[in-house]
Amino acid sequence: MKSLMIQGAKIIATGSAIPSSSFSNHEMSEVVNTSDEWIFTRTGIKERRLLQGNDQSVVDLAVLASKKALNQVAMDPCQIDLIILATSSPHDLFGSASKVQSQIGAFNAVAFDLTAACSGFVLSLVTASQFLQTGVYRNILVVGADALSKWVDWSDRSTCILFGDAAGAAILQSCSFTHNAILSFQLNTDGNYSKYLSMAYEQDISPHPKLNIYQGYFKYISMNGKEVYKFAVFQVPLSILKCLNSLNMSVEEIDWLVLHQANYRILTAIAEKLSISKNKIISNLHKYGNTSAASIPLVLDEAIQNKKISHNDIVAIAGFGAGLTWGTIIVRW
Ligand code: COA
Repeated sequence: MKSLMIQGAKIIATGSAIPSSSFSNHEMSEVVNTSDEWIFTRTGIKERRLLQGNDQSVVDLAVLASKKALNQVAMDPCQIDLIILATSSPHDLFGSASKVQSQIGAFNAVAFDLTAACSGFVLSLVTASQFLQTGVYRNILVVGADALSKWVDWSDRSTCILFGDAAGAAILQSCSFTHNAILSFQLNTDGNYSKYLSMAYEQDISPHPKLNIYQGYFKYISMNGKEVYKFAVFQVPLSILKCLNSLNMSVEEIDWLVLHQANYRILTAIAEKLSISKNKIISNLHKYGNTSAASIPLVLDEAIQNKKISHNDIVAIAGFGAGLTWGTIIVRW
């Protein structure tokens, strides 16, 4: 540890990557019994990107997104001290962050995965900001990357229509306390409801004949859509309000609402509960579906490239999903 001095932290660059193959609702209706009309009216999704074929993995997406973020600020990857890869669909259960580290050439960085499903990017941002604000590290790469197409049951129309594959990255840097941009955060978990959204480990029915050890495998994503919907619309506005209260800020001071891109109806219901204009919702899920840990950095990166978010804007970022876990970060851009 270099110092215990309290520093500030700010996001200095973003990047994102998507697979080249897009897959429309119409194409989906050739795989399961559904329609563009049903999917669009219930979710706002028109198409998603999928890792089809054998030549690209979730790690490749994470690497590409990271390189774009590094290029944006012309940063030498050797300046990165820590890499946090938020993913629930790693290429290796021991972790995929180390592969990102080697492929981008961040040889001075320690790297680890953080598993928190669709809240993974928010939890990773908060984790990174702690390392920066205590003065331990100077530059941290946070990546959200998921390829849930590998884990959905492609015969279950209630889940397979929702998800897409992508990666998004952000570089955080320490700064003086007066320039701190990660203003506040608020995080929650309620494991009593983990059954509503899971990708559970399933044990074989019989053990190894000599060892009495049961081995197994991970099942497809299972979800109670209605319960997840109610949870998000009830809990996320409360989390945003708690976060604002801790800063003595009002809802009116929010310039942009950047929510996990799960479902457009969830996003508008949250905005309505907070009396925030729909014009402040930043969304791109019609193009990409729910990309889990990648959704927030993917939409943030697009909004920054399009110059929608400007200097000094107050951005409320909230993630929610399996765990159940949810949380908010308020950022001054
Ligand atoms: N196409 C056509 N019909 C479908 C369908 C599909 N893809 N998926 C389900 N249906 C059918 C159901 O079988 C059901 O038919 P029935 O009435 O004959 O039984 C009907 O549509 C309604 O299903 P239901 O599950 O009640 O739909 P819903 O209004 O709850 O919408 C979701 C389903 C998934 C869109 C909605 O619950 C949702 O968005 N939940 C949140 C999910 C989420 O965001 N998860 C990730 C969080 S990180």
